[in-house]
Amino acid sequence: MKAIEITSFGAPEVLRVADRPDPVAGAGELLIRVAASGVNRPDVLQRMGNYPVPPGASDLPGLEVAGEIVSGDAAALAEAGFKVGDRVCALIAGGGYAQLCVAPVAQCLPVPKGWSDTEAASLPETFFTVWSNVFERGRLQKGETFLIQGGSSGIGVTAIQIAKALGATVIVTAGSDDKCEACKKLGADHAINYRTSDFVEEAKKLTGGKGVDVILDMVAGEYVAREIECLAEDGRLVIIAVQGGVKAQINAGLVLRRRLTITGSTLRPRPVAFKGAIAKALREKVWPLLESGAIKPVIHSTFAAAGEPSGAAQAHTLMESNQHIGKIVLTW
Ligand SMILES: NC(=O)c1ccc[n+]([C@@H]2O[C@H](COP(=O)([O-])OP(=O)(O)OC[C@H]3O[C@@H](n4cnc5c(N)ncnc54)[C@H](OP(=O)(O)O)[C@@H]3O)[C@@H](O)[C@H]2O)c1
Repeated sequence: MKAIEITSFGAPEVLRVADRPDPVAGAGELLIRVAASGVNRPDVLQRMGNYPVPPGASDLPGLEVAGEIVSGDAAALAEAGFKVGDRVCALIAGGGYAQLCVAPVAQCLPVPKGWSDTEAASLPETFFTVWSNVFERGRLQKGETFLIQGGSSGIGVTAIQIAKALGATVIVTAGSDDKCEACKKLGADHAINYRTSDFVEEAKKLTGGKGVDVILDMVAGEYVAREIECLAEDGRLVIIAVQGGVKAQINAGLVLRRRLTITGSTLRPRPVAFKGAIAKALREKVWPLLESGAIKPVIHSTFAAAGEPSGAAQAHTLMESNQHIGKIVLTW
């Protein structure tokens, strides 16, 4: 098969097309002929040498794919209601930038009716991450107020739409007025340009001084102290990335006076059973919203993976430029 390798850690040009042996599905797994591979910020970190591959995962980048089932563990396929030839999208721990990809059956979902393989490939990484962090760890409830840092990111556009569909009030931050507008078009109630306004003041104003119930944070660093200032009583802060640094100095007094929860997680190293449970919840609660059109995949650009030079390098260059709104996808 053709695959995109990280030939050495460095700039996007280190991503090159290579021949690799076809992977083989083992127990509980299936083999997908990949039509499209989603691109995520963790792939950029991995390419730069800042995100070690978890033990047992492929060294190839790529955390999500969509395509057709070629073969697989018959019992596991039957139990999940899949058969050879079905179109699925899958969350994987690596190996997605390739024409063939092995995935645990438990981490696969059907391509939602009405959407293409390219659109479906943009779903797993952000939908699994948002479900697990916002609705499980963060326990966001209908009627609560939810602040998303980075509303126009792949994660952000997913979080806006699921939270709105499930009845939350959504506030986002983004780095330009155009991105703020795009977030509002996706359903965000309020959007704060974090380069020109202070999100703490704005969030307090928008909630009548009460503060927000849940924050999804992909910045951390000095944001943590400010986020604690604008959380409501019993508020929850969920950290999923540390783009602004790992260290924070916080007012611990606010944590106890307002009974705050500070939590976070990384999805990639979690076991198949954990990810399988998220897949089940998504299939039951979120896939119907995709199939009804209440939630839409948001694709900013697609690139041909197997070109020369590979579109993967262009995809990563675009992601690093931060010009995108929503997802970037490679097609095969
Ligand atoms: N923990 C997990 O399991 C997990 C899983 C997947 C992804 N992630 C992380 O989640 C983040 C988003 O991933 P992605 O694939 O959606 O990436 P992405 O589309 O490239 O998004 C990165 C976002 O970070 C925002 N950002 C950077 N600095 C900011 C700041 N100071 N204030 C507010 N927003 C800021 C950017 O906003 P502007 O462009 O508007 O500046 C951009 O929207 C990444 O850091 C990724 O590593 C974590």
